[in-house]
Amino acid sequence: MTSIQIDRAAFIATLGGSEAVATMSDEQRADALDDFLIEQLNSPDYPKRIADHRAEGTSAGTLRRGAGAIFGDGRHPLAELAPMPKHPTLLDFLRLRSNFPMVRHLLQSAEHARRSGGQEILACLLHDLGQLLIRVDHGWWSAQMVEPYVSEEVAFAVRYHQALRFYPDESVGYEYPELCNRIYGRDYVPEPCIAEAAEYARGHRWYLAARMVTVHDLYAFDPDTVVSLDPFADVIGRHFRQPEEGLGFDASPVAHMWRSVIFADHPL
Ligand SMILES: [Fe+2]
Ligand SMILES: [Fe+2]
Repeated sequence: MTSIQIDRAAFIATLGGSEAVATMSDEQRADALDDFLIEQLNSPDYPKRIADHRAEGTSAGTLRRGAGAIFGDGRHPLAELAPMPKHPTLLDFLRLRSNFPMVRHLLQSAEHARRSGGQEILACLLHDLGQLLIRVDHGWWSAQMVEPYVSEEVAFAVRYHQALRFYPDESVGYEYPELCNRIYGRDYVPEPCIAEAAEYARGHRWYLAARMVTVHDLYAFDPDTVVSLDPFADVIGRHFRQPEEGLGFDASPVAHMWRSVIFADHPL
């Protein structure tokens, strides 16, 4: 697997050129970069394809950027959703929704954690899962979605990776903010609530768990790498409390979130 590689010109072209970029807030640009990296997993020709699409003048936004992937992105045709079994497991969600680039990204980051002997394999496997439903504040959404089924530490790691990704930590070789600097300029400043969340996480006893999610996150945007789910069945079996009734049907406070991923085509 390779680390992040960004073609700055291609990235800006996907956003509609530098004039369009100038109208975006720092946060919007940061989220757009995440989208760009994730979408590259869809196919290596994504940057050119989406830039061409814009040039044709057919890209009038029909969705806010924070909308979840399962509801479409307003740019690509909607694919049919695979039906889920009656009592779906986490593995079912990962397998049957694996046509989403984000799911491949989860697998790649978990694989990087596994290969480097990291403890955070499950947190990596779940860290962006909420982006199926909603992208904005995805760390919080993802953590909420899995909270009843994982340890508090795993939920913490998932929640705070979102804020921590903006801040360097040389002790673990985390350099993502330098990449942000190159793309947005050195004046980039995350929203105060994100800065506060990162500060809180930094002082927490589970800081390293969340931090390592951001590290493995860096090695999970390779369009050419296909990762099997098989190596993760064991860690999921041991550390994810799969409800007997199936995710979405266990009457937990978050069951509706899983059901929304299953039944994303239902109108109400
Ligand atoms: Fe993330
Ligand atoms: Fe990620």
